Amino acid sequence: MSTAFDVIVIGAGPGGYIAAIRAAQLGFNTACIDEWKNDKGGPAPGGTCTNVGCIPSKALLQSSENFDQAGHHFSDHGIGLSNLTIDVAKMLGRKNTVVKQNNDGILYLFKKNKVAFFHGRGSFTKAVDGGYEVAVAGDKPDVLTAKHVIIATGSNPRALPGAAFDEETILSNDGALRIPAVPKTLGVIGSGVIGLEMGSVWRRLGAEVTVLEALPVFLGAVDEQIAKEAHKVFVKQGLKINLGVKITEVRAGKKAVSVSYTDEAGAEQKLECEKLIVSIGRVPNTTGLNAEAVGLKLDERGFVAVDDDCKTNLANVWAVGDVVRGPMLAHKAEEEGVAVAERIAGQHGHVNFNTVPWVIYTSPEIAWVGQTEQQLKASGRAYKAGVFPFMANGRARALGDTTGMVKFLADARTDEILGVHIIGPMASELIAESVVAMEFKASSEDIARICHAHPSLSEATKEAALAIDKRTLNF
Ligand code: FAD
Ligand code: NAI
Repeated sequence: MSTAFDVIVIGAGPGGYIAAIRAAQLGFNTACIDEWKNDKGGPAPGGTCTNVGCIPSKALLQSSENFDQAGHHFSDHGIGLSNLTIDVAKMLGRKNTVVKQNNDGILYLFKKNKVAFFHGRGSFTKAVDGGYEVAVAGDKPDVLTAKHVIIATGSNPRALPGAAFDEETILSNDGALRIPAVPKTLGVIGSGVIGLEMGSVWRRLGAEVTVLEALPVFLGAVDEQIAKEAHKVFVKQGLKINLGVKITEVRAGKKAVSVSYTDEAGAEQKLECEKLIVSIGRVPNTTGLNAEAVGLKLDERGFVAVDDDCKTNLANVWAVGDVVRGPMLAHKAEEEGVAVAERIAGQHGHVNFNTVPWVIYTSPEIAWVGQTEQQLKASGRAYKAGVFPFMANGRARALGDTTGMVKFLADARTDEILGVHIIGPMASELIAESVVAMEFKASSEDIARICHAHPSLSEATKEAALAIDKRTLNF
């Protein structure tokens, strides 16, 4: 006997759980299947993001930032501390509590929205009259059918060939989020988003962190001016960043790892470290879906092949989030989930890839939306640039955090905002204003003429917009 639904969502990460909730809001009888288990074997919806990604990393970034502030900056405020210690077990426990709050929150939201949740692995078994049959393998095996299926099975960390993750010494994002004691030495392969965020956490807590990056440029996708500033600041903070390396061998012992590589000049080098984080990108996760049973098409890189509307090659089968093309970001997955549920309901769901913001939660934070200066140059578009440093912002001075800048890029003729790039305090929050502005096709003049609260970091955004016409008021 199978249970019939209108919509089945496979995966309850940000793409899947949000798609399920939106589908239920639109009146569809909706099921969501997810296999993630907590340490007691119970359901832990929320996917990579909630369990081993966005949420736990931000919890540890906050704990380690507090430690760093207490150790290095409280004294500037006249606050004296002696014998500063870090209880790593407690810090990890707090992180686990934050994760559980989010898991429980999603289960609550499923109940509130009448989404039927199934804990286990969802696999296609066959196409049936007017839809698909999906089996749930878990504690309580089940068989479900629905006209529409939304695949939101996410991604997994990419391993370095010959260096499988053991999560003891060679760590993926999972192991990197639960190192039981601060390692004396930490190696990081890949200076992307995970490498920089997790490297920052353990550096702030006292580890000597060495980053090995294959590309000769640092943060190649980031606006060059911002990436240069970031490199300068991170090196000053103590991160050792080696660019243009080629890893030749990784050998894991019981208590240490040895990484052989050639440096930018071609010389052979060796890095010995207690722990090694490998953060060289992620691969789509379609294991267990049984895509072959229904003829679901994957592309040459293993992603579920979709068109601009997240439609797969199969009628009424959709796919969203990390398992399809595009940036691997939680908010991109969520937007696609909402858009697909609305398209199923006959509405015109839409995701604007030009206004998906990016944030790297280091200190200072890096955030951007739209095009970089190097992209504009490459496309030959005439543009104007305006920059305002946080050094000249009153709130940043009061906070004691004046590193960085806001940079505006606008069309030379129409003044339409084409990109906004921030490195500095609370960049993750500040970028939202520019996302809204770009969605409304605002000009830099629009931002420059809007009243911003004083003293606030957001005044730096207004001033950067003013800088486009060389009329900053405070710099
Ligand atoms: P996932 O979150 O991966 O969820 C997929 C779910 O499907 C999982 O629960 C999985 O168990 C389940 N599943 C898979 N196959 C099946 C099956 N056959 N049956 C049942 N269930 C199945 N993004 C940001 O935007 N901001 C951040 O700050 C951020 N920080 C990150 C930090 C780290 C360390 C990492 C690793 C990632 C981070 N990301 C961040 C990226 C973000 O986590 C992903 O983009 C996001 O989780 C993708 O959502 P998703 O729903 O597509 O997939
Ligand atoms: P990434 O794509 O951000 O960075 C990977 C880095 O590893 C690149 O710089 C790449 O050049 C380098 N690299 C690849 N192969 C290498 C090799 N063999 N040797 C040395 N360097 C090598 O990937 P990362 O950091 O693993 O994160 C995966 C994704 O997760 C990100 O792209 C992002 O989409 C998401 N994420 C988002 C976060 C956020 O929004 N704040 C935080 C963390 C992850």
